[in-house]
Amino acid sequence: MSEENKIEIRNLHKSFGKKIVLDGIDLDIRKGESLVVIGGSGTGKSVLIKCIQGLLRPEEGSILVDGEEVVGIDEEQKEKLHSKMGMLFQGGALFDSLSVWENVAFDLLENKGYDKRSAKNEAIRVLRQVGLAPDVADLSPSELSGGMQKRVGLARAIASKPEIIFFDEPTTGLDPIMSDVINDLIIESVKGLGATALTITHDMASARKIADRVAMLYKGKIVWQGTVKEMDKTTNEYVVQFINGSSQGPIKVEV
Ligand SMILES: Nc1ncnc2c1ncn2[C@@H]1O[C@H](COP(=O)(O)OP(=O)(O)O)[C@@H](O)[C@H]1O
Ligand SMILES: [Mg+2]
Repeated sequence: MSEENKIEIRNLHKSFGKKIVLDGIDLDIRKGESLVVIGGSGTGKSVLIKCIQGLLRPEEGSILVDGEEVVGIDEEQKEKLHSKMGMLFQGGALFDSLSVWENVAFDLLENKGYDKRSAKNEAIRVLRQVGLAPDVADLSPSELSGGMQKRVGLARAIASKPEIIFFDEPTTGLDPIMSDVINDLIIESVKGLGATALTITHDMASARKIADRVAMLYKGKIVWQGTVKEMDKTTNEYVVQFINGSSQGPIKVEV
């Protein structure tokens, strides 16, 4: 494993029954970089993240995080792995039965040994970082707009200062301006923590903004990777079709 890599994926295969989702993924994520994986709906982007988190077990291949194998780890090792990781879920995935601050401080209370008072103080500090006032802390997530819920989800993802952060479709369901605000917050948060970030998205505006490097997933394989600059110059027909959102090209939409 290269010292420069935070995550190293080799020959990763994951199927569900007869359905092959990941068909030999090779991918490196360097320490401190922001890698964005692009690809159509249902191409296996979320499955890839779940494999890296040890939540799904691939049939074949290797995933090293800080040089340690994730495939086949036990529950105890999984807990250790998760303590390095934060995640912003696609739908926000906030608990409506908990207040905003309890959502943000969830990991601090459950796993990091914070008492209630210091956890709430820390939650309010992180909420401020993502542009939310302290009076939001005691509300229920259901009282918030979509954009505010995303901010709370982001606050929760970064509250325990993870080394690795996953963003699953962070801008889905937001208007273009709110998407841009969230993209900026993501960049700030990741840089502020010095974290390594893996974002999966089909939103090209978001990918362009967030990415140090882009990788494209198609039919279970990484068919291209490079910087945003390289992406704009590439003649790779998969990438060209995807970024142009065209129905013409090698990518066939399965109905
Ligand atoms: N737990 C599961 N059981 C069966 N099939 C699954 C499971 N999770 C994902 N899939 C299938 O894997 C494929 C990729 O899903 P996913 O990774 O969620 O796509 P996306 O790229 O949109 O994130 C889909 O066809 C989905 O139905
Ligand atoms: Mg997904």
